[in-house]
Amino acid sequence: MTGIFRPDLLENRHALITGGGSGLGLAMARRFRELGARVTICGRSRERLDEAAKQLEAEEGEPVFRLAVDVRDPDEVRDAMDRIRKEAGSLDAVVNNAAGNFLAPTEELSPNGFDAVVRTVLHGTFHVSAEAARSWIQAERPGNILNILTTYAWTGSAFVIPSAAAKAGVLAMTRSLAVEWAEYGIRVNGMAPGAFPTEGAWERLLPTEEMEEEARSRVPLGRFGDVSELADMAAYLISDGSGYMTGECVTLDGGAWLASGGLFNRLTRQPREEVKEFLESLKPKR
Ligand code: HXC
Repeated sequence: MTGIFRPDLLENRHALITGGGSGLGLAMARRFRELGARVTICGRSRERLDEAAKQLEAEEGEPVFRLAVDVRDPDEVRDAMDRIRKEAGSLDAVVNNAAGNFLAPTEELSPNGFDAVVRTVLHGTFHVSAEAARSWIQAERPGNILNILTTYAWTGSAFVIPSAAAKAGVLAMTRSLAVEWAEYGIRVNGMAPGAFPTEGAWERLLPTEEMEEEARSRVPLGRFGDVSELADMAAYLISDGSGYMTGECVTLDGGAWLASGGLFNRLTRQPREEVKEFLESLKPKR
């Protein structure tokens, strides 16, 4: 299933996906492979990576190179990037997808809790991006970085402040590095997914049916995203088709974040006929 793309869109490309053993990372790995790419996945859990690789390899295509690495640790990241180059070949693209997150009242958050998320999201993105860029610059070859963000990078969000602060930092990093590394042919873009049902993050962030329903009701398009829609956008962003795009962040949230502002947006949640009647009643009588 390659949907809207040429089936060889990513042929001869090698992409690293951090947090590639599950959720959105795994969905992107699957789609990149369907489009001809070689894929390396990394994450903290060796078992999860092995299981993901087994699933992907059963589908078809080349073996999936995988490495257990904690992106918070710069030494681990350096060693991992060396091993990837030596054992799986040079990279063409890096997707900074690994993330940590949990809901907590900020005044009760421990410094360690703050660190666990910020070091994964913000520092991890820096460590992986800097290592990848160093090797691309040295080899004089182009590269592609795709950062997974979220819309609360610009709105902020209560109860997830380490994640919101870290994602905002990654957004700034995306725009800064797009300019700084453009002369080396390195493009840096982002994607801001809204709510996409995945195992793990979903239960953690929308643990009750009520919360899930509330989240769905806030999406103007009336549904959650399908991971294949996100994976297609990621494929486009790391392909030559988006060759003139850098420093951009593409939002895929069914219109949810825009609907959260705008004083009168709430009217769209009522039956349209009722709204029209109400608006008619406000017209000056002549
Ligand atoms: C309060 C918590 C906590 C919680 C962990 N901590 N969970 N504090 N409430 N629910 C605190 C711990 O008490 C500890 O601090 C510190 O965090 C580190 O915890 P550890 O378990 O030792 O650390 P570690 O395993 O390194 O990391 C924990 C973690 C990680 C950051 C929670 O396991 C994680 O996030 N996993 C989920 C991965 C995931 O779901 N990724 C997708 C995110 S979705 P103390 O002081 O006690 O030592 C996303 C996009 C959101 O980011 C967009 C939605 C629309």
